[in-house]
Amino acid sequence: PLIPVVLSGGSGTRLWPVSRRDYPKQFLPLMDAEHSLLQQTLQRLEGMAEVSAPIVVCNEVHRFLVAEQLRQLDMSHGGILLEPLGRNTAPAIALAAFQALNAHEDALLLVMPADHVIGEVQTFHQALEQGRIMAAQGRLVTFGITPTSPHTGYGYIRAGTPVDEGFAVDAFIEKPDSHTAQDYLSTGGYYWNSGMFMFRAQTYLSALEQYAPEVLDAVTRAWQGCTRDLDFTRVDHSAFEQSPDISIDYAVMEHTDQAVVLPLASPWSDIGAWDAVFEARAEERDAQGNVSTGDVLLHNTTDSLVMSHSRLVATLGLANIVAIETEDAILLADRSRMQDLKHVVARLENEG
Ligand code: GDD
Ligand code: MG
Repeated sequence: PLIPVVLSGGSGTRLWPVSRRDYPKQFLPLMDAEHSLLQQTLQRLEGMAEVSAPIVVCNEVHRFLVAEQLRQLDMSHGGILLEPLGRNTAPAIALAAFQALNAHEDALLLVMPADHVIGEVQTFHQALEQGRIMAAQGRLVTFGITPTSPHTGYGYIRAGTPVDEGFAVDAFIEKPDSHTAQDYLSTGGYYWNSGMFMFRAQTYLSALEQYAPEVLDAVTRAWQGCTRDLDFTRVDHSAFEQSPDISIDYAVMEHTDQAVVLPLASPWSDIGAWDAVFEARAEERDAQGNVSTGDVLLHNTTDSLVMSHSRLVATLGLANIVAIETEDAILLADRSRMQDLKHVVARLENEG
């Protein structure tokens, strides 16, 4: 069986003021008015054969949000695993592996971030079917996106010799600096790591044992100490806290020689910041190139993202801006500066 694992532990600070610590981006309807990014992640698997109920791994403070959003979809789950604190993706995925092994000795995991948009669901399903075969053979499968810019927030994969529909991973470089990324782009033969993975639960735990034994050790003890009530599984706080804070990319993918990359030829986006929302909703642009939602009036305004939640927002003579109105805060920004929003949020946290 293929068990989806949704990683839902991020905090989404670059999508302030809509995304907040108590209610981060994956629980918000950022791409359409109806469903959150988490719900869209789960819905994207509809129509795939032989897929089990999903495991969701999240922070314990978000447990009711997750349970409620699953209920809205009328979807059962294979476990909502609660982390007492974030220790990044390597330990989070290890928890899911233990949960999956409880169900089936040779469970396959499909690990998905909760905040991606994938344009072509059919193409995605085809890649998953190919991945399934390779993962069952003991490989660590990643899904590769053809890079379009020297983005430094992604992992880069150098494709090696062909293996089935994909390639052996020659090298995996997590978040290179911009010179290196530029180099990769001009050399060619590189993919972005989409952040989705497929492998047997057992394969992943063995890889951890080999490359990150401290993570495996802490998570094993945290799992042994877990308690269950209704929907939720809580792991032992002090054992989990002892795990190194490390992503799967640094802990395993940069080291293993069992990885393969399957190209995913679909529009794809990590909804990390407002400019990504603007790009991912490009189809909704009006004749002036604006994307807007809610009660807005745009006059002589071009190429801007304007979202109103509770009041009328009117703009005049502006270009390339982001304007996000919420009940208690308003963001007005230059659309090309959205990566810097984290500094604004940091100041808000420090200065009150
Ligand atoms: N449960 C849980 N616990 N989830 C977590 C935690 C955690 O401690 N930390 C992060 N996540 C979730 C996030 O919510 C997100 O859905 C996913 O794991 C990936 O984490 P990010 O923090 O968004 O990673 P990234 O975007 O910097 O990098 C990863 O994704 C890129 C593609 O979007 C890497 O895998 C890169 O190699 C990749 O290119
Ligand atoms: Mg991300």
